[in-house]
Amino acid sequence: MKARGGLDLDDTDAVSKGDPAGMLDAVLSLPRRLRAGFEAGRSLSPLPDASSLSAIVLCGMGGSGVAGDVVRALYRDRLTIPLEVVKDAVLPEFCGRDTLVVCSSFSGNTAETLACFDAASDRGCRLLALSTGGELAVRAAERGVPTATIPDDAPAPRAALGELLGASLGALESMGLLPPVVEDIDESAGGLEDLAEELGPGVELPDNPAKVLATWIGERVAVVWGAEGIASVAATRWKTELNENAKTPAFSSSLPELDHNEVVGWTKAKGQGFVVIALRHHDESGEVAVRFPVSLQIAAEAGCETQEVWAAGQSPLAKALSLSMMGSAASVYLGLLRGVDPTPIEAIDRLKRVLAEMNE
Ligand code: F6R
Repeated sequence: MKARGGLDLDDTDAVSKGDPAGMLDAVLSLPRRLRAGFEAGRSLSPLPDASSLSAIVLCGMGGSGVAGDVVRALYRDRLTIPLEVVKDAVLPEFCGRDTLVVCSSFSGNTAETLACFDAASDRGCRLLALSTGGELAVRAAERGVPTATIPDDAPAPRAALGELLGASLGALESMGLLPPVVEDIDESAGGLEDLAEELGPGVELPDNPAKVLATWIGERVAVVWGAEGIASVAATRWKTELNENAKTPAFSSSLPELDHNEVVGWTKAKGQGFVVIALRHHDESGEVAVRFPVSLQIAAEAGCETQEVWAAGQSPLAKALSLSMMGSAASVYLGLLRGVDPTPIEAIDRLKRVLAEMNE
């Protein structure tokens, strides 16, 4: 099947030519990356002292901040201290000697993350860094901050989710801040390996669910819904992957919150040009499970086409990552269908250049 300007998704040569940096391979290698990241995080030594910590703060922007979102969404209810994700240059005022600050930047050169690193270092916070190198690695080495070195073989930061997430989980587990996660990692990676087989370029339409989703979305704008926690963090990942890999606007929101505002906007004919994708899993609360069909019906009455995508796996991590990988693969196929190279992110590069010139 072929869309305007795009290619035939079942033509594997055309798919590799259309994706010269290998974003699809990178997306499908999430299980390998997750396992490698987890080992790297677990074997970091020495780690900061975890005694009398009062909070954990995970700092990172864009693709390097997603790991923080996932840790927060999946483990917050099992942590005995608050965990906050910072996506800004400003470290919250409460951060001090009893705060663990984890700074994550794939390039190591992101201004906001470096600003948080400097502030955390000045305030005597306990620090960890995750990076392929760059200025973050330099500053961390100068200040003796333990650093998980992320391999730079991913074509872009967003494709290094496995390493960044695995390393965060491994380090936090080793510090005794998370319950043991090794079983979740094993189960997730095993399930993702199976899923990668289903979503690969050699599996043709209509048997490949990621190709089916991409073809169905087409030129329409996707709005991705997920229940707070597991599916909401996956919905956010779908949105950003659609933005960056498919170069298209996309939006995400979470239930039950969207039932208190967004649904009101889905009025007659306003759904034209949109699709709603509901990310579902079997551990949703009973109330959310009731809300979903009614909310989808409201969107459908406004003219949206809707689809449900169900998570695989048992653990919250396996569920969230199975949903995420489906969205990532669909976003790459959608980019190819739309005739764009999934990897480059010219708009982000342009903004970084403008900001760097301003600071010269
Ligand atoms: C994703 C992407 C961006 C960056 C973000 C921060 O692939 O390129 O979202 O992740 O601009 O840069 P890093 O990750 O280098 O800190």
